[in-house]
Amino acid sequence: MDKKIVFSGIQPSGSPTLGNYVGALRNWNLLQDEKRYCYYCIVNLHAMTVRQDPGELYKRSVETAALLLACGIDPELSTLFIQSQVKEHAELSWVLSCFTYMGELNRMTQFKDKSAKHSDNINAGLYTYPVLMASDILLYGTNLVPVGSDQKQHVELARDIAIRFNKLYGETFAVPEPYIPKVGGRVMSLQEPDKKMSKSDNNPNSYIAVMDEPDVIIKKFKRAVTDSENVIAYSPEKPGVSNLLSIYCTFTGKTMEEAVAGFEGKGYGHLKKAAAEAVIAELSPIQSEYKRILGDMAYLDDIIEKGARKARERALVTLNDVYKKTGLRS
Ligand code: TYM
Repeated sequence: MDKKIVFSGIQPSGSPTLGNYVGALRNWNLLQDEKRYCYYCIVNLHAMTVRQDPGELYKRSVETAALLLACGIDPELSTLFIQSQVKEHAELSWVLSCFTYMGELNRMTQFKDKSAKHSDNINAGLYTYPVLMASDILLYGTNLVPVGSDQKQHVELARDIAIRFNKLYGETFAVPEPYIPKVGGRVMSLQEPDKKMSKSDNNPNSYIAVMDEPDVIIKKFKRAVTDSENVIAYSPEKPGVSNLLSIYCTFTGKTMEEAVAGFEGKGYGHLKKAAAEAVIAELSPIQSEYKRILGDMAYLDDIIEKGARKARERALVTLNDVYKKTGLRS
């Protein structure tokens, strides 16, 4: 099948990290530039699964839209929109929840991780989160879903739901595939390199935020946890150093062999400095562009409004088809 429709989403909670950027946003750009048709969504309904400050949530959604534009998302080529403004997502989610088994949701590792982290608020939304995500993807006839490796299991569930529904009611949904970068699909914490880098980490030294100033980026890399060997090599026994090497390769375009050869005989300080500089060189122009875009709220509001209108048009076609096939009728 010609893989041309792309869908992905990002939560508007906190400042996006280097993990979000490498695992997802960078590929969003590449796929757009390959002239595929892309839908990029700020998933504020998913963000509701943890408590949000109402005054902050919409502001953060708009800021996330500005960041996506600053990263290179072109509203002429891609549809950029906020999830809650396209009501079809929530409607399809209800229908699909009737085609998803509890056994499947019980297996989702993100649910297990998040319920351990938010033990005072294990709500039903956290549990059915992957069904809403499947709805996001399936509404648009999506073929490819660019995500970090932590979301692979959710995309696979979306595939299973699509196949199940198609078997029962005839060809309705395209069956999507995850699209995960070979290097950088899982950027690790700078402080605990056996854990994924996450914007919800309590220790800000564990992640680089896309909006961190250059001196902050340098400081965080300097403090990154490594090991006591002082040998620059890529290996599962050296998670801290391997993570720094992966980041370095991602931002310089070098292969792992080239990078390791280039650092031969050098110390960890050298690797940390080189990784920080490569990251700063790519993020600095994005940061300036972000500030410029946020200064033009009329432009931003217009893009968000047009994005929702375009997304709604497409989403409604799928939802109407589903309602018709299942006998619901709208
Ligand atoms: P979210 O907001 O947690 O993260 C957005 C994207 O960033 C990737 N990512 C990472 N990649 C590599 N290393 C990391 N340390 C890292 N941390 C995050 C995530 O894999 C993701 O691609 N459930 C999704 C949002 C979503 C979605 C969708 C995605 C909702 N509906 C439909 C795709 C399609 C999430 O929470 O992403």
